[in-house]
Amino acid sequence: MASLWGGRFEKDMDEIVKKYNASIFFDQRMYNEDIDGSIAHVTMLGKQGIVSNEEKDQIIAGLEEIRKEIVEGKILFTVEDEDIHMGIESRLIDKIGDVGKKLHTSRSRNDQCQVDIRLYLRKEIYEILNSLCYLESVILEKAEKYEDKITVGFTHLQHAQPITIGFVFMAYFQMFKRDIERLTDTLERLNYNPLGACALAGTTMPIDRHLTSELLSFTAPTENAMDTVSDRDYSLEFLSDASISMMHLSRWAEEFAWWNSSEFSYIAIDDSFCTGSSIMPQKKNPDMAELIRGKVGRVYGDLMQLLTVMKGTPLAYNKDFQEDKESLFDAIDTWKATIDIFAKMLDKTEFRMDQIEKQLGKGFLNATDIAEHFAKQGIPFREAHSIVGHMVKACEKKGCDLEDLTDEELLGDISIKSCVNARVSFGGTAPSEVHRQIEVGRQWLNSLER
Ligand code: ARG
Repeated sequence: MASLWGGRFEKDMDEIVKKYNASIFFDQRMYNEDIDGSIAHVTMLGKQGIVSNEEKDQIIAGLEEIRKEIVEGKILFTVEDEDIHMGIESRLIDKIGDVGKKLHTSRSRNDQCQVDIRLYLRKEIYEILNSLCYLESVILEKAEKYEDKITVGFTHLQHAQPITIGFVFMAYFQMFKRDIERLTDTLERLNYNPLGACALAGTTMPIDRHLTSELLSFTAPTENAMDTVSDRDYSLEFLSDASISMMHLSRWAEEFAWWNSSEFSYIAIDDSFCTGSSIMPQKKNPDMAELIRGKVGRVYGDLMQLLTVMKGTPLAYNKDFQEDKESLFDAIDTWKATIDIFAKMLDKTEFRMDQIEKQLGKGFLNATDIAEHFAKQGIPFREAHSIVGHMVKACEKKGCDLEDLTDEELLGDISIKSCVNARVSFGGTAPSEVHRQIEVGRQWLNSLER
């Protein structure tokens, strides 16, 4: 079959070239966006008198029929289609004849493929934002439930200070809040209309790019045609956003795995989110947490792949750019699925307060509080620090707690609960302060347009 671009060729493409060259096997997932873009384009061509109204209507009807046939599974794309743009255009021509050949006036696949990706990515970003917001709402619920429940706070994986579990939840809330803000920012920069940039330099035809922008709900047309067809920054930004957010998810997944370990037993991950062992009958493994931790590797890889593709490519369009899709789609699918599974796992997870309580007496969690108590009485903090350091050494030798060394009056109220309750500095772990953080967090989440 001769290609739509075959006019100047004497030979058909070699079979192995056809296969290597084709993107249809992965870009067909953008068929809806391709059709939407074409309908906006031909609507504009009609308005500008570049095609007649009748021709415009015929083309739109043909495109809608093709959309229906794809949905119904009646169209099977093959290597002959090369890519989704030509797959749809050639079917349109088969369907409505020569009129169909007018659709590609003042358009190139170089701008067309970008319209498709931007529209597709925009739709996926809305979904991911929704998923992230759902995750945030689960976090808020849990934070509220565990607002004043005390656990061990670690630095260097060593017992550090007592904190509330609500405080831990709100730490992660902040990370995903930044992810949402970053992605919203990416969306804003992405939402410009490439259509009409054509191959690289615009067109002599009297097109109206502002109209197609409006029809496709883009903010405005992109400013420079050459930059437009060469630009994949929006995908790179998305992949960076995805990488950072996956890193957050993987960090929490790691905490899940060790909180769930038999040594810790701080949580028991729900049976429905674990799997067993094929040989050890007693095993219940936190596979979802581990898989989440593992999946981040793919998304980092996706980012590196596209950065490497783009590096050193001259202006304007180069075929290298066709390699911008699979990694993007992989990151979209992976990120989306990971957020959803994490949110559900979190929702089903409860903390085992009896187990946590056993750990609160270990590791001198209240040492800083004693030092601060001394500092409040006028002892310079460095000295107070050193005194308590010596006390800890003595306790370790004697095998006792700080409270056992001297009377309460001297040390102040250093029960774990009082220590936590007293950390009321802005952003601190006291339940009252965590309560404030939850309120502010909820207000922010409710203020988001969804
Ligand atoms: N399938 C191509 C891509 O995704 C479409 C653009 C091809 N343009 C061209 N001049 N060969 O990049």
